[in-house]
Amino acid sequence: MRLAKYLAKAGVSSRRRAESMIREGMVKVNGLVVEQPQVKVEAGDSVTVNGKLVKCFEKKHYILLNKPPGYISTVHDTHRRPTVMSMVEDVDARLYPVGRLDADTSGVLLMTNDGELAYRLTHPSFQVKKIYHARVKGLPNRKKLKQLSEGVNIGGERSARASVRLLNVSVENNTALLEITLSEGRKRQVKKMCEAINHPVLKLHRERFAGLSSGDLLEGSYRVLTEKEIKNLYRLVGL
Ligand code: URA
Repeated sequence: MRLAKYLAKAGVSSRRRAESMIREGMVKVNGLVVEQPQVKVEAGDSVTVNGKLVKCFEKKHYILLNKPPGYISTVHDTHRRPTVMSMVEDVDARLYPVGRLDADTSGVLLMTNDGELAYRLTHPSFQVKKIYHARVKGLPNRKKLKQLSEGVNIGGERSARASVRLLNVSVENNTALLEITLSEGRKRQVKKMCEAINHPVLKLHRERFAGLSSGDLLEGSYRVLTEKEIKNLYRLVGL
């Protein structure tokens, strides 16, 4: 099997990213740096990435976490803040989060060691749907909601069309709850979109990602995806 494919199959990264890692000299086969992604590896070869042994045909894991606020959704944090990894410590695999949620955002976060699936689910060309519930300051009128769904200027670029529903308002607290469905996933996108219409987000929760919802999962707990859910994800991104 080609080395880049081996790394992707082992869940290290997507095949494309594996190719760059190989070219950057991060990968050794039987103790020697190999810089050509097309080099073939066989059963019994020892493959390492940055000195760490990588086993192929490792079992794939698919975990759905209901992320609480206060956790960073990266594998490591240089400032030693708590990360989502602490909630899946008992899973015996090198999992990583599929995409990001801000530290103060809660909700559905998929975690896996399936590199190709993770890559496709986060790649803009696959337009994977994400549904957020945003509690915003103030009571946005129809015109503002229309602007939000048609696209607003966020950091010099226009957001793509989104579906926006007003779920409820609290006149007493002067807040509204919006449901925003996005097919793109830029950094802090929901917060920037709501800021653009002058209704900043007070609280953000991701209800669904790629058709998956947390259902009855308590914040901080996770469940393993069913075979059917995994198949649906594969179909969604053409695998
Ligand atoms: N949009 C945001 O602003 N934050 C998130 O965590 C996710 C989407």
